Amino acid sequence: METIFSGIQPSGIPTIGNYIGAMKQFVDLQNQYQCYFCIVDEHAITVPQNPITLRKQILSLAALYLAIGLDPKKATIFIQSEVSAHAEAAWIVQCNTAIGELERMTQFKDKSQKNGRVGVSAGLLTYPPLMVADIVLYNSNLVPVGDDQKQHLELTRDFVERFNNKYGQNKQAILVMPEVKLAKNGSRIMSLQDPTKKMSKSDDNIKSFISMLDKPEVIRKKIKSAVTDSSGKIEYDPFHKPGISNLLGIFSAVSGRSLNNLEIHYENAGYGEFKTDLSEELVKLLEPIQVRYNQLLSSSELDRILDEGASSAQQIANKTLIRMQNAIGLGRKKKR
Ligand code: TYM
Repeated sequence: METIFSGIQPSGIPTIGNYIGAMKQFVDLQNQYQCYFCIVDEHAITVPQNPITLRKQILSLAALYLAIGLDPKKATIFIQSEVSAHAEAAWIVQCNTAIGELERMTQFKDKSQKNGRVGVSAGLLTYPPLMVADIVLYNSNLVPVGDDQKQHLELTRDFVERFNNKYGQNKQAILVMPEVKLAKNGSRIMSLQDPTKKMSKSDDNIKSFISMLDKPEVIRKKIKSAVTDSSGKIEYDPFHKPGISNLLGIFSAVSGRSLNNLEIHYENAGYGEFKTDLSEELVKLLEPIQVRYNQLLSSSELDRILDEGASSAQQIANKTLIRMQNAIGLGRKKKR
C-alpha cells in the first residue's frame, strides 16, 4: 500500500482554504493509503508564537482533524515535536542543502521581505528542510497539499535525488521519491478581501478568511462583505473577475457541483442571492464539524489518540533516520 504524508501548522484556526486545498483530500485518501497526518508545531515556531496559544491550537487542530472525519484506526495522527526524528533528520537535510536553494523559496522571500531579512529567525530559512524531513521519514509516495507548497515539494524531490545519488550504494535508493498531490478543484483559495492574495489563517484581517470554527452568522457576514466587481455577472474568469471566481471555486469545492453547473444555475441571479446560497452551503458543511469538534475537545480521547499516533509514527520515522545516519557515516553503524 502506498504511503501519504501531510501536515498543517497550528498557527491559527484552519480556514476553508486549508480544508479545500488539503484537509478534504485527507479524509478521502485515508481509505486507500497508509496515511500520516501531522500537526507541524515545529514549523509554527519559525515565526513568533505565544506559548499558551500555540499549545491550545495544537490540540484544537488535533480535534479538528478528527472532527472532519479522519479516523485514527485508518490514519496515524500525531504531533511533530513528539517524534524527535523530525528535528534530527532536518539537520541532515540542512547539511545537504545549499543556502542558495533556500533563499530562492518564495515563502521565505515573502515573509523575510515583509519582516526585514535580518530580524527573521534562521528557522524561517531552514523551514523547507524540516518539511523534507517530515516527508522522507515516512517513505511517503504522495503528499496532498495546496498549490503554495508545490515549490517545497520540488525541493524535496531534488533533495531525495541528490541524497540517493550521493550515498546510495549499488544504486540502491535510501529514500523514497515523493510526488505532490494537488486538489483537482480549489488548490489555491484566495482571500475574500483581496482575491489576488492567497487565503491565509494568519492574515491580520479576519474578514479575509472563513475559519473552520466561524459561527453561521459570522460566515454569512464575511461572505456578504467578500469583494466582487461591478459587472454583477456570475462567471468564472479568475483573471478579469478574481473575486466572484474565487467564490465560485469555493462553492464548487464545497458542494461538489461543477463550475459550469453553477454558472448556468446562477445565470440570471445577482451576487446577493449567490452569496446567500454559498453561505448556507458553508454553514451546512461546518456546523456538524463544529459540533463534533466541541465534543472531542472536552473528551479524554484526544490524548490517547495522540499518544498512540506518536508511538506508531516514531517506529517508522526512527527506522528511516537510522538509514540516513548509516548512509552518511554518522555515529557508529546501527542495526535497523
Ligand atoms: P499550512 O499550515 O500553511 O497549510 C496547510 C495546508 O493547507 C494548504 N493551503 C491552502 N490550500 C488552498 N488554498 C489556500 N488558500 C490554502 N492555504 C493553505 C497548504 O498548501 C497546506 O497543504 N509547510 C506546510 C505544512 C507542512 C507540510 C509538511 C505539508 C509541514 N511539513 C510535509 C506537507 C508535507 C504549511 O505551512 O501548511
